[in-house]
Amino acid sequence: MRPDPLAFLDAELDALRSQGLHRSLRILEGRQQATAEFDHRSVVNLSSNNYLGLTTHPRLIERAIAAIREFGVGSGSVRTIAGTMVIHMELERRLATFKHTEAVVVFQSGFAANAGTVSAILNKEDVIISDALNHASIIDGCRLSRAAIKVFPHKDVDAARKILRDLPPDQRKLLITDGVFSMDGDLGSLPALCDAAEEFGCIMMVDDAHASGVFGRNGRGTVDHFNMHGRVDIQVGTLSKAMAALGGYVAGSASLIDFLYHRARPFLFSTSHPPSVAATCIAALDVLEQEPEIIDRLWDNTRFFKRGLETLGFNTGLSESPITPVIVGEGSRAMKLSDRLFEEGVFAQGIAYPTVARDKARVRTIVTAAHTKDELQFALDKFKLVGTELGLI
Ligand SMILES: Cc1ncc(COP(=O)(O)O)c(C=O)c1O
Repeated sequence: MRPDPLAFLDAELDALRSQGLHRSLRILEGRQQATAEFDHRSVVNLSSNNYLGLTTHPRLIERAIAAIREFGVGSGSVRTIAGTMVIHMELERRLATFKHTEAVVVFQSGFAANAGTVSAILNKEDVIISDALNHASIIDGCRLSRAAIKVFPHKDVDAARKILRDLPPDQRKLLITDGVFSMDGDLGSLPALCDAAEEFGCIMMVDDAHASGVFGRNGRGTVDHFNMHGRVDIQVGTLSKAMAALGGYVAGSASLIDFLYHRARPFLFSTSHPPSVAATCIAALDVLEQEPEIIDRLWDNTRFFKRGLETLGFNTGLSESPITPVIVGEGSRAMKLSDRLFEEGVFAQGIAYPTVARDKARVRTIVTAAHTKDELQFALDKFKLVGTELGLI
């Protein structure tokens, strides 16, 4: 028998086990909702990105079913061959109107939108100036572009300016930040970065994955929240989180979108969404526009839960969004906290290196509009119980 050429993977997995960092996937039985059944246990769910509870909204479900009846279950092709359906175009038009931009292109995921866009518009002669905590999909897009990557410390606009000052004025450059940072829940320094982008002639790009449906009027994102309309050249949003379905999009000028139609590799080389996904996203936009009280509920729950964790004495970092980390330090401690909470009926994912710094492991909580105050209070009571037991508070 030939030796297994992948045997080294077992050693890697053993190392993860010995550090207490090996995870098995939690299996969701039934619907993604505020209290849900994971691994045969009913738990208050603080781990989904279903910010507005739309995964089970009747309007979205009905639109998805209607689209399947009308268009079938698959698009059958990439967008650039036979896979552009009228419903894909309708979604892009709706999103462009919503974002107040000339045009929008939808990708199969937010990851594909970031990686596909950055790698399409830049090449090895260019420079990317990127926040240290930007999402993995941005980092991968930067690497794929082969541009020089200059990382500035998290939210340190002065450091970004220093990098920009040292570059030749005619250098093509991209300044890029997350709108909401997914592990800490804080906001990118968008206004100050827009100032710097204008001063130094950069392309300005924001990844609003966690801001879509959450920040700005009717959930239009951080560009709207900070009133930066017209100052951000490339806005990425996701359809996978608050919008409840799947996908990512780029909003910007008509030329940018036309260029991405021709050069963004996930757009060119990967099959487009099933029509039911596009229909679900259109229905989610209807909800954002017609039922904004859902967003108010999300923020009311966010304030309640954040205050509760802070009052208990947990280190919740600098979050400004419905993502609230409970930072505990070492990876194995975060995993222990997460596991004990789960046994007590609360699902809050433990997150450790390499997703976050080695000494900043945490349990990440995300509340949604669909949680009741009773569910959130139950979760706070369990945080108190387990936090005391583990000596965290
Ligand atoms: C900041 C950020 N950008 C992009 C993405 C990717 O979005 P999607 O899940 O739609 O691929 C995520 C999701 O995990 C994210 O947190």
